[in-house]
Amino acid sequence: MNCLSPSILSADFANLGEQVRMLDEAGAQYVHIDVMDGMFVPSISFGMPVIKSIRECSDRIFDVHLMIEEPGRYIDDLAEVGADLITVHAEACKHLDRTIEAIKEKGLLAGVALNPATPLSAIEWILPKVDMVLIMSVNPGFGGQKLIPYTVEKVRALKKMIDEKGLKIDIEVDGGVNLENVTEVMDAGANIIVAGSAVFKGDISENVERFLDVLKE
Ligand code: DX5
Ligand code: ZN
Repeated sequence: MNCLSPSILSADFANLGEQVRMLDEAGAQYVHIDVMDGMFVPSISFGMPVIKSIRECSDRIFDVHLMIEEPGRYIDDLAEVGADLITVHAEACKHLDRTIEAIKEKGLLAGVALNPATPLSAIEWILPKVDMVLIMSVNPGFGGQKLIPYTVEKVRALKKMIDEKGLKIDIEVDGGVNLENVTEVMDAGANIIVAGSAVFKGDISENVERFLDVLKE
């Protein structure tokens, strides 16, 4: 099934709770939550208290994308504030296997993310242990960037790798996805679509509905 995961990084933080409710009511299946530490990526976004507050506004899948160094340090806290799916960057973990195991021990879904230039071989051996792979289609750190074209090829190669291994793993694409390029990204093999600026610029409910219409096809 194809799902939409709107990234709240582009939300109006003064009205965050209300906007998270709007996403839910419009039918978006996931909420994409970008946590940044100012080390792994240049910017700092938000952390546990914010996730805990918005947990009351939605029962949808909280899809937490950790753009932080050594994310294994925060798995317990994230489980406590209501994360459903935790995605860590392969580049940020000294011991990726251990971190993925820690997420699963909490009974949560585990995802692994790759920056645009990181080869798929970095996750080849961990693939059977993860529920999702997140392919960054921009360099992480900011919303509103342009999708890097070669990352679509990377999604295609990942889909092939997953199929050849006989695995069932979701592929999420994150960065620069809009209504014009989303079909191309899905055709390559992605089934979880992150969209930040394309959802929050303009009418949120309308944008979600438009995405969901395309995702249904
Ligand atoms: C980028 C974040 C993305 C970002 C996507 O570092 O991981 O989730 O918010 O925003 P758009 O869709 O505007 O590129
Ligand atoms: Zn993200």
